[in-house]
Amino acid sequence: MKLKTLFKALALTASIALSSSVAAKDMRLGLIVPASHEWSKAATAMGEELKEKSGGRHTMSIFPAGQLGNEAQMLQQLQTGALDMAFMTVAEITNRSEDFGALFAPYLVKNVHDSGILLNGPTAQKLLDSLAADIGAVGLGFGGASMRLLLTAFPIQSAEDLKGRKIRITPFPPAKDFYQIMGAASTPMPVTDVYDSLANGQVDGVDADLELVWRMKFYERGNTLLHSSHMMFPVIGLVSGRLWQQLDEADRELIRETTRKHLNGLFKTYGVVEAEMLENIRGTGKVQIIEAGPEFFSSINQQWETLWNKRTPVLQELRKEAAQIN
Ligand code: BEZ
Repeated sequence: MKLKTLFKALALTASIALSSSVAAKDMRLGLIVPASHEWSKAATAMGEELKEKSGGRHTMSIFPAGQLGNEAQMLQQLQTGALDMAFMTVAEITNRSEDFGALFAPYLVKNVHDSGILLNGPTAQKLLDSLAADIGAVGLGFGGASMRLLLTAFPIQSAEDLKGRKIRITPFPPAKDFYQIMGAASTPMPVTDVYDSLANGQVDGVDADLELVWRMKFYERGNTLLHSSHMMFPVIGLVSGRLWQQLDEADRELIRETTRKHLNGLFKTYGVVEAEMLENIRGTGKVQIIEAGPEFFSSINQQWETLWNKRTPVLQELRKEAAQIN
């Protein structure tokens, strides 16, 4: 066969493969968090609903705890089509698309409930829509996690006490900047490695949330819990761009709506479980709990804001929307 004819034949096969819609599929969904985490529970509930609503045509297998690799690896798998879906930290997306960093502005929202309003607002939804072109995966919706706080292995009373200390951060620039501005040594580390690092003194403290502190038992290795709620920490529902191309409009709608429903449910869930987890941690008597607001970090918040306003105009748009909520 001549080369030109061969290319034509290959192109035709490819276009048939792309246009023929997927009749039935067992979708594989990956997460970095353990099966006990609220994100994993939401993914499981979503899979069950999808199965029911598709009359059993679409099922879902959930792979929690980084079984399929870390988030960067899962993102690559989504791009190649080796993975169908993921519930992924927006932190990981920020490593590829800086605009998403604006979502982590200190004290952008007061609590998880308000983060749900902001993340369903026009600016955040525009960010979601930009993903297919930027990362080769389709963003279906945002959900929440418990608000960020700080657990230290030593007593603290002010942000000054953090100077020179090694603080574990999720590996992404907004958290790195926050602790660097504070004078701490930002130490990037995936959530899966945190317990041991705190136990063996590799880090002096961790930027985390109530769910990690309680369910992954970080409190066992802590001295002080600074309940600061200084950032939100959204999760994003992603589907492989390749799979998306092969789905017909009705299936796309079904998957989008089901995913959004269960991710949105997280905003309400955390409103309830955050309070429970805080009381559980208090009940252990293991850590001193300090309630803190923006004043604890004083000028650090403003320095972060100045830095990120230079990086992305999205921050100002989000601040305007957030002001309507607060
Ligand atoms: C973290 O890196 O702190 C994190 C990762 C996944 C879910 C929640 C927190």
